[in-house]
Amino acid sequence: MLLRTVDLSVGYGDLKIVQNVSVEVKGGEVVSLIGPNGSGKSTLIKGIVGLAKVFSGRVLLDELDVTGLPTYKLIRMGIGYVPQRLNIFPNLSVKENLEVSGSWLDKNRMRRKIQEVMDIFPEIKHKMDCKAGLLSGGERQILALARALVAEPRVLLLDEPTASLSPMMADKIFRYIRDIAFTNDIAIMIAEQNVAKALKNSDRSYVLVSGRCVSVESSKAHLSDDQLKRIYLEFMSIKPDSL
Ligand SMILES: Nc1ncnc2c1ncn2[C@@H]1O[C@H](COP(=O)(O)OP(=O)(O)OP(=O)(O)O)[C@@H](O)[C@H]1O
Ligand SMILES: [Mg+2]
Repeated sequence: MLLRTVDLSVGYGDLKIVQNVSVEVKGGEVVSLIGPNGSGKSTLIKGIVGLAKVFSGRVLLDELDVTGLPTYKLIRMGIGYVPQRLNIFPNLSVKENLEVSGSWLDKNRMRRKIQEVMDIFPEIKHKMDCKAGLLSGGERQILALARALVAEPRVLLLDEPTASLSPMMADKIFRYIRDIAFTNDIAIMIAEQNVAKALKNSDRSYVLVSGRCVSVESSKAHLSDDQLKRIYLEFMSIKPDSL
């Protein structure tokens, strides 16, 4: 496994939100974290990248214990993170946004990397000098993905990459995510509220409810039987619209 957590408990201040959660993802694989609002998906990801307090448990990158390391070190070690909000600099141009991400690479490598990443995303390739704040919602998410890729990650943690996008744009982003994992052998973990799309586009899924992992299955299994509906009914007494 490229990235795994072992019984990880994460929270803020004295408040433990995520309790004893073990997740794992290997190169080329896409896994999804699903669950209702406030179930701890973002908190788990923040715990992995050093942005929330780890109470107990471990984060292992390539079997190396990286628990609690500062975020900038984790990024240099190959963990890319795209937060749910504020994932681009709206006042900088597309090009400048990419340069900030690659600023710790040497200049030539950064230029090559930006060129390489731009070839993947035609939507923003011809908008290099455009202010990022003027891009559409979908283009911004693509830029956020591109920014993460410039830093040459081995692991990508994406928090709600399709939030508030049209279904068509969300499908496009998911296609990019799958292609990126497959082509670059990157391990990708996505937190997603869109349960149906997350399941269709991931290999395995973890269901979080109130900070605990209540089910882990291949996404196909979660999609194909009524198990997930049962879980949702049992733990939340609601039926997710998207199922
Ligand atoms: N900085 C913070 N300080 C204290 N509590 C927080 C903080 N951020 C989040 N929480 C709380 O942690 C719990 C889990 O929130 P989290 O954002 O991880 O859920 P989520 O599953 O990502 O939800 P969503 O689907 O809405 O993004 C919530 O009860 C939330 O209020
Ligand atoms: Mg969240």
